[in-house]
Amino acid sequence: MSRATLEKDPDDVTRMFDEAAARYDRTNSLLSAGRDRAWRARARTVLGLRPGERCLDVACGTGVSTTELARSGATVIGVDRSPGMVARGADRPVDLHVADALALPFADDSFDAVTIMFGLRNVVDPVAALTEMARVTRPAGRLVVCEFSHPTWAPFRAVYLRYLMRGLPWIARKVSSNPDAYTYLSDTIRAWHDQQSLATAIREAGWSQVAWRDLSGGIVALHRALAPAGSAEE
Ligand SMILES: C[S@@+](CC[C@H](N)C(=O)[O-])C[C@H]1O[C@@H](n2cnc3c(N)ncnc32)[C@H](O)[C@@H]1O
Repeated sequence: MSRATLEKDPDDVTRMFDEAAARYDRTNSLLSAGRDRAWRARARTVLGLRPGERCLDVACGTGVSTTELARSGATVIGVDRSPGMVARGADRPVDLHVADALALPFADDSFDAVTIMFGLRNVVDPVAALTEMARVTRPAGRLVVCEFSHPTWAPFRAVYLRYLMRGLPWIARKVSSNPDAYTYLSDTIRAWHDQQSLATAIREAGWSQVAWRDLSGGIVALHRALAPAGSAEE
């Protein structure tokens, strides 16, 4: 079984997700005690999709996030670099393709909204991916990044860190088709941006009006922003 490192070599990351694909959705639900569905639903609400709009779900995995977004009535397309994850989502009622977040196969200004859920942390160059996402989004189009973050209340943060380092790898060994992927998960969560620093990275990629809200005490943060040249409305 393969495991990527904090260097996030794209081929290592893709191989790791290919091997985790078989039980990916079930393992995630177990590890998050079912909260992952609520987090994706909040991302859909914050993105404010309307029927008739076009939305791109980057790093869509097996399409679980794409399917959640499609509940809005918008047309949602999912892309992911892992053929194994995309193949696993073949039965879902959404359009999924193999593609890299760093080279999206879409023309400029193709989408009203774009999102990446639990994917940005895995990309070797997050600012480049956010820049590429801005390219395919129309002016004033919307971005939501849904990603693990850092609990803000110190006592809760200490308990959560213990869970990440001990509880999560233990559960993953019992249920995942690639348990090593979940050691990578806890390593990357601990090394990832906090809320403020991710907001700075999103601005660096050219997005404006960046704001965020914490979910589950900051275990997850939802960052939203408007595409370059966007209006002041939200
Ligand atoms: C944790 S999964 C998230 C899947 C889904 N969005 C969800 O909410 O469950 C992260 C995904 O990011 C994908 N990924 C990592 N690097 C990528 C890249 N450069 N381009 C596209 N997808 C990438 C992986 O293949 C994996 O399927």
